[in-house]
Amino acid sequence: MPHTNSAAIPPVTLHDGRVVAVRSLQPDDKTRLLQFGQALPQDDWLYLENDLRSPEIVARLANASAAEHWRQMVAIENDQIAAYASVRLSSGRTSHVATVQLIIGEGWRRVGLGRAMGAVIFEEAKKLQASKVVVEMLEAQRSGQAIFSRLGFRIEGTLVNHARDRFGKHHNLVVMATLVDDASYRQ
Ligand SMILES: CC(C)(COP(=O)(O)OP(=O)(O)OC[C@H]1O[C@@H](n2cnc3c(N)ncnc32)[C@H](O)[C@@H]1OP(=O)(O)O)[C@@H](O)C(=O)NCCC(=O)NCCS
Repeated sequence: MPHTNSAAIPPVTLHDGRVVAVRSLQPDDKTRLLQFGQALPQDDWLYLENDLRSPEIVARLANASAAEHWRQMVAIENDQIAAYASVRLSSGRTSHVATVQLIIGEGWRRVGLGRAMGAVIFEEAKKLQASKVVVEMLEAQRSGQAIFSRLGFRIEGTLVNHARDRFGKHHNLVVMATLVDDASYRQ
């Protein structure tokens, strides 16, 4: 059964007045998710874990909606996906650690959706009972860092020249993290 415990999330009103619904990704979202992925700016693919332009990867994600260790949330406007966020528990000795991904569609950026979806996916991480939550992003991705700093994340490290863009240029990645039950960890 897909997870339905997120049905109670209220709609989000963005700074420009648009309203998006937020719910968990469902198996019948494949076409919507593929359209979302194919419309993303090309550079986004250099830094993201899953290539949402690929029908195979999108099908795998949509079919994982029932996975116990994984939550995937989408924001919907006009039957289109405006944003995708996921959180996944690791395995083995890091099985208490969850990793977040957050992607906002180009036409919905800078109007508060990233902040709203960051908060939603952090709540999902808590529901997974993760005690540590991690997110990686480009050092230059200041709005992403602002989103997670507000949620109590701090930079644990910088991976130098860790991402390569389509022009061959190297970029630093920052690893941000928070300890869910340890307020003293937060900045
Ligand atoms: C990083 C990303 C998630 C930001 O999403 P977004 O929807 O644009 O973010 P928001 O509109 O909620 O803004 C977040 C912060 O960015 C800054 N910001 C937003 N709009 C701004 C503007 N017009 N001018 C300057 N700064 C702005 C603010 O600091 C804001 O924080 P605040 O809410 O405290 O004011 C989005 O650009 C994205 O998906 N990028 C590609 C994927 C990626 O790099 N993800 C990284 C995290 S895994």
